[in-house]
Amino acid sequence: MNRSFVVLGGTGDLTGRLLLPGLAELVAAGVLAEPVTVLAVSQEDWSDEEYRDWARARLSEHAGHVPEAARERLAGWLGYRHGDVTVPADLRAALERAGGVPVVYLALPNTVFLPTLEALAEAGVPDGAVIAVEKPFGRNLADARQLNEVLHRLVPEDRVFRTDHFLAMQTVLNILGLRFANRVFEPVWNAQHLERVDIVFDETLGLEGRAGYYDTAGALRDMLQNHLLQMLAVVAMEPPAALDARSLAARKADVLRAVRPPRDMRRDTVRGRYTAGTVGDRELPDYTAEQGVQADRGTETYAEYTVEVDNWRWAGVPFRLRSGKALGADRHEIVLRFKPVPHLAFDPGTDGGGAESDVLRLRLDPDGISLELNLNGAGDPFGLERRSLDVDLPPARLSAYGLLLEELLAGRAALSISDVEAEESWRIVEPILAAWAAGEVPLLEYPAGSDGPACG
Ligand code: BG6
Repeated sequence: MNRSFVVLGGTGDLTGRLLLPGLAELVAAGVLAEPVTVLAVSQEDWSDEEYRDWARARLSEHAGHVPEAARERLAGWLGYRHGDVTVPADLRAALERAGGVPVVYLALPNTVFLPTLEALAEAGVPDGAVIAVEKPFGRNLADARQLNEVLHRLVPEDRVFRTDHFLAMQTVLNILGLRFANRVFEPVWNAQHLERVDIVFDETLGLEGRAGYYDTAGALRDMLQNHLLQMLAVVAMEPPAALDARSLAARKADVLRAVRPPRDMRRDTVRGRYTAGTVGDRELPDYTAEQGVQADRGTETYAEYTVEVDNWRWAGVPFRLRSGKALGADRHEIVLRFKPVPHLAFDPGTDGGGAESDVLRLRLDPDGISLELNLNGAGDPFGLERRSLDVDLPPARLSAYGLLLEELLAGRAALSISDVEAEESWRIVEPILAAWAAGEVPLLEYPAGSDGPACG
């Protein structure tokens, strides 16, 4: 099949920082062996050559790990068309120029998803076209429903790709291997044996000049509505029959449907915003002093909530999701804490060893797995010592965006979010958004470089 790749928003930050480098990785890996037409569409009045120069600069900035020959090869395939992505005639002209069976990628602010999809529906897309939509998928449940409705008018659901690059991260994919290709974990992967699950994505990065997007999104919409809920879904899902898009989407959707939004917003949710501080050797200003931030929007840069998955496997196990910017350390992990053993014959005071419960840590970026256990002490054989079995995984063959693009160009949607999942995810967070907007939960402050709001 003669695939083409049409990027709407082709001069944006996402294209330059993630999509072009991802494509360059595919060229270097030999996945894209034959030339593919890549057509960028955006507002700038540029020629193909001007666009290629812009792309070369972005590639040298963000794809230094890719050999120059591959970057240059990709640059040679790039074309550019000036156009308004909400005007059907412009889209029609772009699709004609790209030719082939296009993957149309909406690398756009989510406020223009709907008019763009409406315009695409009017322009019409060739048979076999795939539509990829970035996150966040709208701003609320009503938006997501509307977007799904227009998408379904355009192409069948199995040709819609709602992007969540966390699904393409090695550790997230590894949850499938760990759980479903071994006997050892699955029998204890339930409420009978697990006490709690923490899904944490703490970042040292601050706003990084993204106020235009982030200040209207905030941590809850940016991270916890999508990435962290997807990780929860993969951790909590029932074994799928196969790893195809339909089986995975159905099993993840079952989990999301069973998630009950927090009952007590003040107890079960936390929102915070960073103030000036030092992260490593960087001085960060107060979030509200960052360029483009409107302080009275009250945007949170830290969000946390605890939910339960109300089903047979998980009833009673709290799942805590937390993510924030400008924190003291990068901590990206899923932590599964087991219940204590029913009876401990060892004296927990012996040899300084405690008998904490077992902990399984799935670490992201750098990827790894740790299993923290109690073992007999080396000194006192009747005492206990805490030991950790650690595996550091080598870097994945492709970055998350590289892998997503590989799947997308091959027309496989296993790493996509389905229509149901997108809507269920909004159903879960909407009551939180409403409670926060109504001021039911205070916006706490935390200094940049700290461990987040003091929330106990
Ligand atoms: C993005 C968020 O989707 O994921 C960013 O918009 C966040 O705010 C990023 O920093 C984290 O993913 P990664 O791959 O950059 O670690």
